Amino acid sequence: MSKSKNNVASYAIIGFGNIGRALAKAFARNGTEVSVATTRDPESFASAAAAIGPTIIPQTLAEAVKADIIFLAVHFGSHPDVARALPTWQGKTIVDVTNAYGVPPEKLGGLPSSRFVAQAFTGGRLVKGFNHLVAAVLAQDPAVHGGRRVVFLASDDDGAAAEIATLSENLGFSPIQLGGLSEGGLLVQARGNSWGKLIFKDLVRFD
Ligand SMILES: NC(=O)c1ccc[n+]([C@@H]2O[C@H](COP(=O)([O-])OP(=O)(O)OC[C@H]3O[C@@H](n4cnc5c(N)ncnc54)[C@H](OP(=O)(O)O)[C@@H]3O)[C@@H](O)[C@H]2O)c1
Repeated sequence: MSKSKNNVASYAIIGFGNIGRALAKAFARNGTEVSVATTRDPESFASAAAAIGPTIIPQTLAEAVKADIIFLAVHFGSHPDVARALPTWQGKTIVDVTNAYGVPPEKLGGLPSSRFVAQAFTGGRLVKGFNHLVAAVLAQDPAVHGGRRVVFLASDDDGAAAEIATLSENLGFSPIQLGGLSEGGLLVQARGNSWGKLIFKDLVRFD
């Protein structure tokens, strides 16, 4: 399990656009500290972070990638730039929230988009997740209609999947494990100009 020396996992969100801000709201609601980073000087989005809550910490990309668990909330095409921020991602868990919409499958060498992303983050443990909800829905309190909004998770690393499932629950969501990236990941990814079967569904679990 990814943990800093003090045995408490640290979190970062890379990308502070629609999805990055929606995720930040979930951390703020829960009172959990999370770093947020873009390509820009953290000062430039400090007021936007403060407006979400005091636990949202603007940082440089180089600082933010020191976290144990890193949400990748950039456009699919930007993921190699983020991956270059560290020589190795060993010991880190990357949550791939990207959708490779409009990217022809042949550009991915026939791989599910999440496996393609995983290749760039050498040594890291990748979990595909949180990508099936549009940002405006993801930003809302996941406690709805007496149930909890669902997030789908897929990973080739069972430990990482369990870690992100626990985090999802702490953030108020109901995680559903879909198995490996080549099976479950394909159900929740954009493929070329089409969407996986479970994508953009407004699902809530009652239990
Ligand atoms: N929008 C949705 O409803 C939705 C739903 C599900 C999944 N997604 C997926 O989520 C991802 C983000 O979508 P979005 O709508 O949030 O996009 P967005 O609003 O355009 O935000 C993208 C963010 O990424 C940052 N960024 C770009 N390149 C970067 C880099 N190399 N390093 C660090 N930060 C970088 C941008 O900041 P600067 O350019 O200022 O540096 C910006 O804050 C996409 O892959 C999308 O497919 C979106």
